[in-house]
Amino acid sequence: MPVHVIVGSQWGDEGKGKIVDHLSENVDIVARYQGGANAGHTVVIGQQEYILHLIPSGIFNENVICVIGNGVVVDPAALLEEIEMLRSFGLDIKKRLLISHNAHLIMPYHKLLDRLREEQNSRIGTTGRGIGPAYIDKFSRTGIRIVDLLDREVLCKKIKTNLEEKNKVLKQIYGEEELQVDDIIEQYQEFDKLIDEFVTDTSFYLNNALKENKTMLAEGAQGALLDIDHGTYPYVTSSNPTSGGACTGLGIPPTAITKITGIVKAYTTRVGNGPFPTELFGEESDLLRRWGNEFGATTGRPRRCGWFDAMLVRYSARVNGIQEMAITKLDVLSDLSEIPVCTGYRLNGKILKTFPTDEKRLDKLEPMYETLPGWKQTLTEITQYSDLPERAIQYITRLEELTGIPARIISVGARRDQTVFKDV
Ligand code: GDP
Ligand code: IMO
Ligand code: MG
Repeated sequence: MPVHVIVGSQWGDEGKGKIVDHLSENVDIVARYQGGANAGHTVVIGQQEYILHLIPSGIFNENVICVIGNGVVVDPAALLEEIEMLRSFGLDIKKRLLISHNAHLIMPYHKLLDRLREEQNSRIGTTGRGIGPAYIDKFSRTGIRIVDLLDREVLCKKIKTNLEEKNKVLKQIYGEEELQVDDIIEQYQEFDKLIDEFVTDTSFYLNNALKENKTMLAEGAQGALLDIDHGTYPYVTSSNPTSGGACTGLGIPPTAITKITGIVKAYTTRVGNGPFPTELFGEESDLLRRWGNEFGATTGRPRRCGWFDAMLVRYSARVNGIQEMAITKLDVLSDLSEIPVCTGYRLNGKILKTFPTDEKRLDKLEPMYETLPGWKQTLTEITQYSDLPERAIQYITRLEELTGIPARIISVGARRDQTVFKDV
């Protein structure tokens, strides 16, 4: 039962979309297991760039079935926009997209509350896609699921019950207008007609497929350090991007997982607020942002940039069980004569044994660096590992030593074909 889990190893935007698209050439199914339209996964084929928020990045390989699992929070408006975008490129997704009937819906009040909370107390720097409020409702057992769309009576009752509470909050805490029950019911019944053909029991589908020995990629969104349990809380998202989330988010057993690949950017970025030990400021940060085009795929916000952090990736390897790395964006470092890499942290004169996830220690610690020589050579046309410059190989080898994870894939450009496999 070969399930290969692909996880983001840092703070998201490591290039998961690109690698999943590439690997999906050889699988039957690609399934997203958590998050929602806060994700922005970029796939570049030829000259064309596609940004996916909810639909798995396997959609560009026509033999692949794409699944949105029960762990995902689905914004039907965002989903329909994405389906339309794909159709406008002539992509036929009929019978190739399946959506779990148990996935929770993002409702208009989730997006509104997300934005209002951020405006009043902008601590997290969320994407404003309603993710936190939707997962709050899921866990407080008041959420509305896709299956609820099927029955008008159930849907009306659930929306009414939710609005009774949400309208009080909107009006009394935020001084906003109340939302109208009938408008939302109309809108969501309309959505139901448009997405109904994709909805099914995806856990049943996936487990049957696994029995037939079909191969599958589980595509994580976000990254380990944004994980609600293992990330830099409270500056995290509201789901479990780490590999364990693939089981609960898809309804497949842990025993089905045969491989876990961590997508690792050759340096570090973060969007939104929160601690970032190796963050750069000023000109160095601007350079990395420009070379790497580090602007959010969902919100367009400039990403914060910094050096590679081996302490962080070692931690990520532990909480995910990463067995191999795909190192992305190596080409972005090509103009540097020297490349600092963080090997560990010191706090109050002591070397830390592991990555601390509390804000206080993260803000105070001092990263320790070693400097590696740059290769000063363009990498974007290289297709064979052995053709990489010696110093680029030295950089990769050092990252392998420092993180304890072998690298298997090296990405040297955004395009699908700018991917180098290392023989292992
Ligand atoms: P994801 O959220 O992990 O899928 O990553 P994003 O798509 O948000 O961000 C990664 C960005 O880097 C996108 O613009 C990709 O097109 C781009 N990208 C991916 N791999 C590479 C690479 O190896 N080199 C360069 N230069 N760009 C890359
Ligand atoms: P992909 O899948 C990078 C960040 C937000 C914010 C925090 C919480 O493209 O890697 P949320 O809207 O989830 O409540 O925001 O998480 N964030 C991401 N950062 N890549 C993402 O997804 C992200 N999804 C959420 O910037 O700091
Ligand atoms: Mg992204």
